[in-house]
Amino acid sequence: MSEAAPVVPYNKNNPFLAAITENRPLSKPGSAKDTRHFVINLAGSGLRYQPGYSLGVFPQNPPVLVEQLIARLGLDADAGLALPDGRTKPLRRVLREDVTLNRVNKKFVRAVAERLPAGRRDELLIVSGNEAALDDYLYPRDCLDVLDEFPGASFTAAELVASLSRVNPRLYSIASSQAKHPDEAHLTVAVIRYHTGGRDKKGLCSGFLADDAPLNARTLPVFLTPNKHFKLPDADTTSVIMVGPGTGIAPFRAFLEERETRGATGRNWLFFGDQHRATDFLYEEEFEAWRRRGLLTRLDTAFSRDQAHKIYVQDRLREHGAELWRWLQDGAYFYVCGDAKRMAKDVHQTLLDIVQQHGEMSLAAANEYVSQTLMKDERRYARDVY
Ligand SMILES: Cc1cc2nc3c(=O)[nH]c(=O)nc-3n(C[C@H](O)[C@H](O)[C@H](O)COP(=O)(O)OP(=O)(O)OC[C@H]3O[C@@H](n4cnc5c(N)ncnc54)[C@H](O)[C@@H]3O)c2cc1C
Ligand SMILES: NC(=O)c1ccc[n+]([C@@H]2O[C@H](COP(=O)([O-])OP(=O)(O)OC[C@H]3O[C@@H](n4cnc5c(N)ncnc54)[C@H](OP(=O)(O)O)[C@@H]3O)[C@@H](O)[C@H]2O)c1
Repeated sequence: MSEAAPVVPYNKNNPFLAAITENRPLSKPGSAKDTRHFVINLAGSGLRYQPGYSLGVFPQNPPVLVEQLIARLGLDADAGLALPDGRTKPLRRVLREDVTLNRVNKKFVRAVAERLPAGRRDELLIVSGNEAALDDYLYPRDCLDVLDEFPGASFTAAELVASLSRVNPRLYSIASSQAKHPDEAHLTVAVIRYHTGGRDKKGLCSGFLADDAPLNARTLPVFLTPNKHFKLPDADTTSVIMVGPGTGIAPFRAFLEERETRGATGRNWLFFGDQHRATDFLYEEEFEAWRRRGLLTRLDTAFSRDQAHKIYVQDRLREHGAELWRWLQDGAYFYVCGDAKRMAKDVHQTLLDIVQQHGEMSLAAANEYVSQTLMKDERRYARDVY
């Protein structure tokens, strides 16, 4: 860091106000996705991270949604609202910074129901009384949708705020090495966008970073989250295998920058996948350059929608199963980052299959090797999945 560390360290309860200095698309025109690269300037924070850490970000609601909600309920945006810590803050700022508007909870639905005339109240109470029906009802809706569908509920500013969930910070795997960028943390963010109830909507934090957060202003509250197990091997001679489809590529850009800066000689093998090579090959030029220079020993890609049948990273793992097993036998570390719900489970299963086949093990022995030896005893299999 170029400036002295502060006396009180920054953390989740005392976030550093950072500046976004770059917000550029990684997806190319024609992509179904909007994945972006952000540069967050940490100068003066004293914050030190290792490859594998995540950055926590406190988002804000879109100003348009806040103004629509204020107008919808006829509230005074400038009226001061008492905060639990004794301070007061104008309602507009509370609605921007402190509560969740794009996702609604049961408490809010009940609060709306209680304020409706009898017939409509019962309609909404029936929905909120059944967990599965409530989940289905809430999934595509934000708080404005509920108020529009059930008009007539009136709230004071304090009642409204009390019925909404607090904003939680979002984590993003850091995509840079501090050895290369002493004052910066880079992020790779898939922006969530969808259209429901006749309005364009977006993920709270990914949408804020993409559309509403100002550039070059020290206003973004951030903090670091270490990841004890998801880190490069101590020895620079050790080989690493990295599986990172989609935004899962982020920490591996950090790993490679770090290894390049350190002059590490261990072999590096990356598996990357996304929808189409032409539009979704994130950081293509950087990773291809690393391959040409030899930092990346192997780069295997799986573009799922470039052909009639899906091809995923685990298909590439399987194709190179014999080689992968040899790397593991030579002491390689195995890392997985990205989607937890499907990808990480399927990759885990594929790793088990490879160990069973090429290590000539029973299912039980392969399980023991992967889940106990690699993961727990030797800590050579680590995941950063979400
Ligand atoms: C350790 C860790 C590391 C992470 N690293 C990264 C990373 O490097 N890059 C990255 O992009 N993310 C990463 N994430 C995920 C990230 O933290 C956020 O969860 C993600 O950006 C979404 O947050 P959001 O605030 O934009 O969306 P939210 O506002 O939290 O959620 C959007 C909500 O919109 C709703 N929704 C989505 N699609 C639709 C639809 N079609 N119709 C109706 N409703 C819909 C869903 O209910 C969804 O929950 C990471 C998470 C963790 C825990
Ligand atoms: N709603 C939105 O607007 C939106 C936008 C971006 C991301 N997201 C969500 O954010 C998360 C991260 O998204 P991301 O852009 O990083 O990438 P992602 O959605 O995880 O996709 C990356 C690649 O992984 C493939 N994939 C799908 N299922 C897989 C599986 N079981 N095993 C291996 N690969 C699989 C995808 O293929 P296919 O897609 O062809 O199946 C794609 O080629 C995901 O949970 C995603 O749903 C939502």
